[in-house]
Amino acid sequence: MLRTRLRPGERPCRSGRLVSAFHATRATSGQEHATQSRDAPSSNQRLESRRPPSKPVFLRDVSLSRVEGIRVGHVQSLSLVPGKVHEMRTLSLKPLLFEIPGFLSEDECRVVMQLAQLKGLMESQLMVQEDQEELARELNLSPEEIFNLLDNNQDGQLQIHEILTHSRVRDGIWLTPENLREIYAGLNVDKDGNGLLSLEEFRLLSNDAFQRFLLQRGVERSQLVRNSRHTWLYQGKGAHQVLQDIKARVTRLTRLPPTLVDLSEPLQVVCYQEGGHYHAHHDSGPVYPETACTHTRLAANTSTPFETSCRYITVLFYLNSVDGGGETAFPVADNRTYDEVSLIQNDVDLLDTRRNCDKSNLRVKPAKGTAVFWYNYLSDGKGWVGEQDEYALHGGCMVTRGTKWVANKWINIDPDYQRQAHYQQLVSQQPEDEDDGLTLSPDMQGTDIHQDL
Ligand code: OGA
Ligand code: CA
Ligand code: FE2
Repeated sequence: MLRTRLRPGERPCRSGRLVSAFHATRATSGQEHATQSRDAPSSNQRLESRRPPSKPVFLRDVSLSRVEGIRVGHVQSLSLVPGKVHEMRTLSLKPLLFEIPGFLSEDECRVVMQLAQLKGLMESQLMVQEDQEELARELNLSPEEIFNLLDNNQDGQLQIHEILTHSRVRDGIWLTPENLREIYAGLNVDKDGNGLLSLEEFRLLSNDAFQRFLLQRGVERSQLVRNSRHTWLYQGKGAHQVLQDIKARVTRLTRLPPTLVDLSEPLQVVCYQEGGHYHAHHDSGPVYPETACTHTRLAANTSTPFETSCRYITVLFYLNSVDGGGETAFPVADNRTYDEVSLIQNDVDLLDTRRNCDKSNLRVKPAKGTAVFWYNYLSDGKGWVGEQDEYALHGGCMVTRGTKWVANKWINIDPDYQRQAHYQQLVSQQPEDEDDGLTLSPDMQGTDIHQDL
């Protein structure tokens, strides 16, 4: 039974018993370098490869509207709810990022936390990463092949950050530069002590050197990429009115066709205990030809080797105000340039939200009811989704006091228009010949609810 006077903000996030297996997909790692999906509520079925039927070609009939940022600090007023005006402030242009105080009412925040607790939250990341291990075994790479894979700048040496990035993606374990040096010293691999590994030195690191190191000293939750619990709440017909209202408000806010929002992932509710964090990551994957979006994959009928989440927009809601820490950090927001290599220097790792949030370009402090939203992709200039926006890198800083509750509403759009249209046509079950691509109803187009102040 749902107790009425819960105050979820002040209690630890308990895991309930109503967790369905369907949601128990596991986190792999924060940074999704075209690997498997991190935490999408999807099945991982692969389609049998068979001859694709000749696919209809969809003429694009919508232009995705993008909210304009104008300049940092710019404020626009919005009418999202009858009788209320919201103010939306531009926080950065790269990524295009906004903050809207009071987007949710106190009651709405409470209901969402209560529904999540009723359903039950599960660990966002498990301690073992079987998928990744299996992938590595299947590929059966030689040390040379791994070395070359990791040597990003192809200088014939492995810098510390080149190894760190790898171990985080592979194991979901957040090794620090000190951990690595400890491993090098313990195994006496860095013979010349210059902090770089040559191929010869790298060979001395046996395949399971990292695993054995971690086994020996034990892994704590704080050493994972993500240390939180979460659950998913459906927002469709029959869902609690608050959940349906939030979805409608998000549709108005983003000015996207309602169909797109309706077909997106459910609401993800996340709870961090004191000490919880989420190291910097992208919510979406990059656009590569060999990568398919998780949400359209089954409909796309392709056998591309990788899948990734395609989340055009992230709307992040703060469900409580946090007593200490827990900011959302955007390490490179509005940086003049994006330089992936300098993100992890030998001693300062900007991706590490337990240590280096203070060095992030931008931090948003959680305040109950506030929503922030940003675009994870640029525009292609023709009204559709373009390249991934690398500046959208973000993470949750460590909670130093109390508990932190947030919710994510992701809006899924396939950067490949044909795939998105085909997917929508299939799920809307319209006969193929009755439709010439008008599946994205442009209901909300032209409704101008955004006014400059
Ligand atoms: C996420 C996320 C940030 C935060 O859940 O994907 O980035 O502040 N959360 O909790
Ligand atoms: Ca190198
Ligand atoms: Fe995120």
